[in-house]
Amino acid sequence: MPNIKLDLSYSGIKKGEIFEYEAKVEEIYKSLNEKAKDNNEFVGWLKLPTNYDKKEFDRVKKTAKRIRKNSEVFVVIGIGGSYLGARAVIESLTSNFANMYPDDIRKSPQIFFVGNSISPNYINELINCIGNKDISINVISKSGTTTEPAIAFRIFREYLESKYGIDEANKRIYVTTDKKKGALKKLSEEEGYETFIIPDNVGGRYSVLTPVGLLPIAVAGINIDKLIEGAKNAQYIYSDNSIKYNQCYKYAIVRNILYKKEKTIEILANYEPKLHYFTEWWKQLYGESEGKEHKGIFPVGIDLSTDLHSMGQYIQDGKRNLFETVINVEESKTDIKIKRDEDNIDGLNFLVGKTMDYVNKKAMQGTIEAHVSGGVPNIIINIKRLDEETIGELIYFFELACAVSGNILGVDPFNQPGVEAYKTNMFRLLGKPGYEK
Ligand code: PA5
Repeated sequence: MPNIKLDLSYSGIKKGEIFEYEAKVEEIYKSLNEKAKDNNEFVGWLKLPTNYDKKEFDRVKKTAKRIRKNSEVFVVIGIGGSYLGARAVIESLTSNFANMYPDDIRKSPQIFFVGNSISPNYINELINCIGNKDISINVISKSGTTTEPAIAFRIFREYLESKYGIDEANKRIYVTTDKKKGALKKLSEEEGYETFIIPDNVGGRYSVLTPVGLLPIAVAGINIDKLIEGAKNAQYIYSDNSIKYNQCYKYAIVRNILYKKEKTIEILANYEPKLHYFTEWWKQLYGESEGKEHKGIFPVGIDLSTDLHSMGQYIQDGKRNLFETVINVEESKTDIKIKRDEDNIDGLNFLVGKTMDYVNKKAMQGTIEAHVSGGVPNIIINIKRLDEETIGELIYFFELACAVSGNILGVDPFNQPGVEAYKTNMFRLLGKPGYEK
């Protein structure tokens, strides 16, 4: 049974328009399946939930257990696809305040993400915050050469070596990188760091269900067997070639129909703060996969109802090139009943006996109706709850939909040539040899 239900009743798109894409999408799915057999194509994620390296997976679990035992702080160094997936899953499935619980209550290490900016303040402040605590680090980079994580790793490696001495530091450094290439691979061989592999045929932003995401996620105490189980469920459900039943294809198609109707910006909206980083992960997945050759939907994210008080005016009344995709979590993990107040100065007694989640859902329904009537089509993705299985399923849903959508658009959803432009300029400005002109 799927944990995800797509509701297109607010999208303004008719069934007939969707079915016009039937043959095209079937052809795309066939071609993705063919490519998934070829190690030189970046389509390994398609079969990953059933075709992953079981030994490596067990090693991830064992390593996570060790880190959870000997570390109070776990620092994850990576950028883009090398950290967003892990952060998305961890923040969706753990307490909003997981890092802030006192040490004697917290069951998992504090997890911090660095190497995703070049801010010296961020690193200095983190090092101050770590203080005397025991720490392990996981540096994640497929290329092994990305500047932001490379600088952070240099700093944290030195930090660990001076804190523990080289031998103990080396036991606390975990590397996730390419099987053969890159500076990181070379260094881990020289220093004997425990190393995990990013499969050749899985690109960064599709890599959350490889050790890239799985090690930090397991360190956070999340059940990665169940996460994979959820993705496996999705792999099975969305291998149904019939558009009528395949909600993943439908989402991909409807986005493209809306894009053709000049709806060039997609807003992913959530009503649950835990999904903030899930939205960040989604933004990278869709932005980097589709924004090329001067084409593509621009993906943005909003947290609601928070952003109704900052972005609401624009969404309701601004330029009409928007559509919205709302993630609705059907069952809230916890709830709070609203109690009677004798004085009722705030006028809230009409809500007595109702719960906060009930109010949140009504805010969502009211917002959907308002935005739709304001000319912003809405796609609703109903998910059962925030648990490992559902998040695993949602990850696969969005990955497959992204690949299908990029192909409908006519771009290669697995490359990112545009990312090089800033690097070339930055290296020239920094005087890196070979980048003088
Ligand atoms: O999706 C991608 O390929 C990118 O976002 C990469 O994940 C990101 O640039 C980091 O690259 P690397 O893992 O090589 O350091």
